[in-house]
Amino acid sequence: MPDPLYPLIPYPQSIQLQPGSLRIPAQFGIFYHPIFLNEVRLFQEKFPESQTPQIVYLKEEAFLFLHQIESTDSKPGSYELEINPQQITLHARDKNGIFLGLQTVFQLISFVSHQFSITTNLPCLKINDSPKYQWRGFMLDEARHFQGAQTVYDLLDWMASLKMNVFHWHLSDDQGWRIEIQRYPQLVEIGSKRSCSQKGGLLSKRVDPVPHQGHYTQDEIRAIVAYATERFITIVPEIDIPGHSSAMLAAFPEFGCTGGPYNVQPYWGIHKDILCAGNPGTLPFLENIFSEILDLFPGQYIHTGGDEVPKIRWQKCPKCLALASELEYPKVSKLQTYLANHLNSFFQKNGRTMLGWNEVLADDLSPEVVVHYWMGNKKTLISHVERGRKAILSNYKAYYLDHSYTHSSLSRVYQFQPVFPQLQNDLHDQILGIETPLWTEYVPSRSRLDWQTFPRLLAVAESAWLGTKKENYPHFKKRLKDFLPEMDKSRILYAPLSAANPNFLQRLKGPISLLQEHTRVRSEQ
Ligand code: ACM
Ligand code: ZN
Repeated sequence: MPDPLYPLIPYPQSIQLQPGSLRIPAQFGIFYHPIFLNEVRLFQEKFPESQTPQIVYLKEEAFLFLHQIESTDSKPGSYELEINPQQITLHARDKNGIFLGLQTVFQLISFVSHQFSITTNLPCLKINDSPKYQWRGFMLDEARHFQGAQTVYDLLDWMASLKMNVFHWHLSDDQGWRIEIQRYPQLVEIGSKRSCSQKGGLLSKRVDPVPHQGHYTQDEIRAIVAYATERFITIVPEIDIPGHSSAMLAAFPEFGCTGGPYNVQPYWGIHKDILCAGNPGTLPFLENIFSEILDLFPGQYIHTGGDEVPKIRWQKCPKCLALASELEYPKVSKLQTYLANHLNSFFQKNGRTMLGWNEVLADDLSPEVVVHYWMGNKKTLISHVERGRKAILSNYKAYYLDHSYTHSSLSRVYQFQPVFPQLQNDLHDQILGIETPLWTEYVPSRSRLDWQTFPRLLAVAESAWLGTKKENYPHFKKRLKDFLPEMDKSRILYAPLSAANPNFLQRLKGPISLLQEHTRVRSEQ
């Protein structure tokens, strides 16, 4: 019998068919090691009420067994799953492994009826599974368009099902400040509101005169962080500095080189007003903001942006010029490294690790900073990694979910190899993982978010789990078909496969589409 195509995404590292099958009862019992109570509770919640698996205290009454193993050599998050004709057994070293293994069990049980439509039997099998990358990320830009807590919760649910574990939250940019900072209420009062928004493509000068606003209170943030943590998802907050900071400057013009006034920007793109590096108040101001961020986000990593920083204001600013000359910098632009290294020591003192977009790369960048690659000179990134430093990969050529499918088709995203071939194999462990960002200039609604994100998120999830061991695209596509009804059930307005894989002629429009406004959404339903 040929191997059935198990309806699993991400596909496991190793899956072996065994003789026989196991009938799935309409409702079944779980016997588990008590440390896994929370994981069991979350697993139960995934089922409809009438089918909720019941916790049992007698082994004879159980169908699904969850055991802890003492292995020390397995990676965090790894698990072993065995289905024999009597029962399902899941073994893992830690709660994370059990949580991830239960996602696999759920996919097998709930999708099996689509796959093996005539029977509710599961084929017997053995799965040995572990993630290739420790960083399997998704980024949501809430600055360009505030999406709100319900969307975040829904995304966290999908990420957990797909074994993704980093939610990178882009909480500030030129067009909005989205997080309450108690010490500086003006950041929200002024920075979270804009009077209008750019209409049309990236080069358009037109605006739509509709105000836009939104922010998260600290209580809302704490609730979202707790929800993510239970699902083994780390939230990495980003406050983007020193560029992309118009919203911050609108509230605190004294931290801009010219003193303002500044607007929360209605226009997308890159803006020349940035934080003044030479103002002695700038770093204490940032540290005060980041102190509150550290209290809210217990994860290891804090993202400080650093992308797209025009230095034109610094070149004319007496304070910036004076600081650059005091530090004997040959160029005032070097102040970007000064800011990055200073913040890095602040995070190091607080036991955290700083992350910056690849524009922060410099010979004298502090070695602890993790570089988040999105575009630009691969050589500098490679030499960073060759010097023993770490990176995350979000190459815009495939992983930017805001790009149209004519540019980044589903098959292209799936087949993309994120690690540069020039990077020696023994350095691959310094690539923490991959992340797929959704920038939201053209994502003002949930239907747009769904269209751009799904089904490409599933392709990235599998790439992050399997690395180069991933299957071929037709294999993925067949399995994806079993996920479409599941997305329908959760009312995700994903792009249908015909739109997700445009034909050759449509793909010719890919490069130009990067400058255009995208508005496509699912009209049916
Ligand atoms: C970026 O896309 N500016 C990181
Ligand atoms: Zn300045």
